[in-house]
Amino acid sequence: MDTAVSTPLTARRGGALQGRARVPGDKSISHRALILGALTVGECTVAGLLEGEDVLHTADAVRALGARVERGGDGIWRIHGVGVGGFASPAGPLDFGNSGTGVRLMFGAVAGCPITAVFDGDASLRKRPMRRILDPLEKMGARVLDQAEGGRLPLTVQGARDPIPIAYESPVPSAQLKSAVLLAGLAAPGETTVIEAEATRDHTERLLKHFGAKVVSKPQGEHGRRITLTGQPELEPANVVVPADPSSAAFPLVAALLVPGSDVTLEAVMTNPLRTGLYTTLKEMGAKIETLATRDGGGEEVADLRVTASALKGVDVPPERAPSMIDEYPILAVAASFAEGITRMRGLQELRVKESDRLAATVAMLRGNGAEVVIEGDDMIVTGKPSVAGGGDVATHLDHRIAMAALVMGLATDNPVRIDDAATIATSFPGFVALMRALGADLA
Ligand code: S3P
Repeated sequence: MDTAVSTPLTARRGGALQGRARVPGDKSISHRALILGALTVGECTVAGLLEGEDVLHTADAVRALGARVERGGDGIWRIHGVGVGGFASPAGPLDFGNSGTGVRLMFGAVAGCPITAVFDGDASLRKRPMRRILDPLEKMGARVLDQAEGGRLPLTVQGARDPIPIAYESPVPSAQLKSAVLLAGLAAPGETTVIEAEATRDHTERLLKHFGAKVVSKPQGEHGRRITLTGQPELEPANVVVPADPSSAAFPLVAALLVPGSDVTLEAVMTNPLRTGLYTTLKEMGAKIETLATRDGGGEEVADLRVTASALKGVDVPPERAPSMIDEYPILAVAASFAEGITRMRGLQELRVKESDRLAATVAMLRGNGAEVVIEGDDMIVTGKPSVAGGGDVATHLDHRIAMAALVMGLATDNPVRIDDAATIATSFPGFVALMRALGADLA
């Protein structure tokens, strides 16, 4: 189901980056707003929805399952929900494109309804593990009728007529897994509990509360949480405002740190502490990131961030920080390539199962451009240099974040960096190239 045409793009070092920018809405919240909105009884409006390909696939899926979903204007979407357990069997396969979040959350939503649906995606998504999500959903009564080898897409799932509430100890720190179990638990009687050893992003819990569900979250061990949802609520329609995505803001932010003389302000960036591990790390490295104004943005804290070019030094990034910056390691590795000394990023095993094997893709991107990097077990170790040669051709492997990280790298290397495919960027950050050019980046 991969029809995109490859479009190469090259980044070159140029003048300082200057100005203000607002990156698109948060991807995680956008998926959840569509899915949970579709499970309310009545109409919700979402403002600031990310209109990237990943989220548009989720909108199509929710529509195919019987909810009414309409675009009212730029980022403004209206959803007319069908209520918890109210989805209908779709007429054809649900295509999630490149989106792991879309497909995995929808497994959960479908698992709690007495319907059958076929799930599919692009070449990257067909390689990604789905068993971790299906295991708890089968315990809740869902059945997998058909699957590709190794529990991969395309997959046919039959939801449970009478879903069973479970207490599930998550074997991996994954917000997608947690969210799938909670979404299935909506249709189950009694309490569904997820126990995570390391806290992951909590947007599902926050939005469930926003729509009137009872969710209690307690600390568990040193870094974890125990989340309990009371099932079969009547979710009430409520409007959602989606703040700017900190994972997208990471790219212009690191570019501003690396290009001498830069001064960039990023507006209304979500600063949920379960998403800002990169920002903590960069500040430890000496990054000048100033919080100008903070405010509430639809149940999430948001801030305007002023970033100025900074001399960085290497740091040790602890493994327990990984869930709060899991999508940001490629761009952190780029920043570390220019930092003085060694940056050790620990506990990165989950990077091997992202949109690409991101450990391998990041190492190839750095080495292909003259940076120094080694992998030891699940750790990535980058030795920074005052100048990095660049000149590489980066294979993006249908991975938007590798594409953007490589382009940012090329804004600071001695020679240009070329990527094989900029089209993949539209999955999470449509308008990335235009936004970067408006700040002064040379992308052509
Ligand atoms: C996401 C969770 C993370 C992250 C992904 C978005 C979410 O995946 O990598 O981009 O919205 O729940 P995992 O849950 O697999 O860690």
